[in-house]
Amino acid sequence: MKVLVIGGAGYIGSHVVKQLMACKHEVTVFDNLSSGLRQNLFPENEFIYGNILIEADLRKAFSKGFDAFIHLAAFKAAGESMIIPEKYSVNNITGTLNILNVAMEYNCKNMVFSSSAAIFGEPKYIPIDEDHPKNPENYYGFTKFHKYNEVSDVMDLDFIILKEKEDLIERIAGTTDHDSEEYIYYKRIIEFRHECI
Ligand SMILES: NC(=O)c1ccc[n+]([C@@H]2O[C@H](COP(=O)([O-])OP(=O)(O)OC[C@H]3O[C@@H](n4cnc5c(N)ncnc54)[C@H](O)[C@@H]3O)[C@@H](O)[C@H]2O)c1
Repeated sequence: MKVLVIGGAGYIGSHVVKQLMACKHEVTVFDNLSSGLRQNLFPENEFIYGNILIEADLRKAFSKGFDAFIHLAAFKAAGESMIIPEKYSVNNITGTLNILNVAMEYNCKNMVFSSSAAIFGEPKYIPIDEDHPKNPENYYGFTKFHKYNEVSDVMDLDFIILKEKEDLIERIAGTTDHDSEEYIYYKRIIEFRHECI
C-alpha cells in the first residue's frame, strides 16, 4: 500500500514508519519538523516538508495518490494546552479538519488517527476501554476528543482511532505478548502512574 504518514518525523511517527517499511509498504512522510527531527527520517522514503495548516502543502502531498494516511501531527503538551489553548485548537483541531477536507478532495478514504488516553480524564476503572466515560481534564485531551469520527462518518471515510497506551507498554516491555510478565509489570506501572497523575 502507498501510505502517507503525517507527523512521521516525530517520536511515534518514526516507529510507525519503521513498522510500515518492515511490512513492505511504500511510505511518504509529511512533517513541518516543528518537534520532529530530520534524523528520524529514513532515506528510503520520500519526505514532504509541509504544514497541516497550509492546505496547499496538504494538496501537494495528497495529489501523489495514497491508499491510506496516518495522522500523528499534533501538539501534545497537556500543561501548555491549558495556558495557550488557541495554539492547540489551531494545530490539532483546524489541522485535522484541513487534512480530512484535502483527503476527501483526493478520494483518500482510509485514515488512522492518533488520539490519546487523555480524552478519558481521571480513570473511573482500569483498564480503560472504549465504553469508559470521556471527560478530558486538559485542553490537549479535548482537542483529541473532538468528534472527528462523526465528521468522518459524514465524509464516508474509513476511520480508525488509536490511543497509544498499549503500544507504549509494548515498546517499554519489549514484547507484544499481553500475558507476559514484562507486559503485565509495565502495564501496572503505567496505570499506577496514570492514577497518581
Ligand atoms: N507520545 C505519547 O505518549 C502519545 C500518547 C498518546 C497520543 N499521542 C499522540 O500521538 C501523536 C504523535 O505523538 P509523538 O509523541 O510522536 O509527538 P511528536 O511531537 O514527536 O510528533 C508529532 C509530529 O508532528 C509534527 N507536526 C506537528 N504539527 C505539525 C504541523 N502543523 N504540520 C506538520 N507536521 C506537524 C511534528 O514536527 C512531529 O514530527 C500526537 O498526535 C500525540 O497527540 C502521543
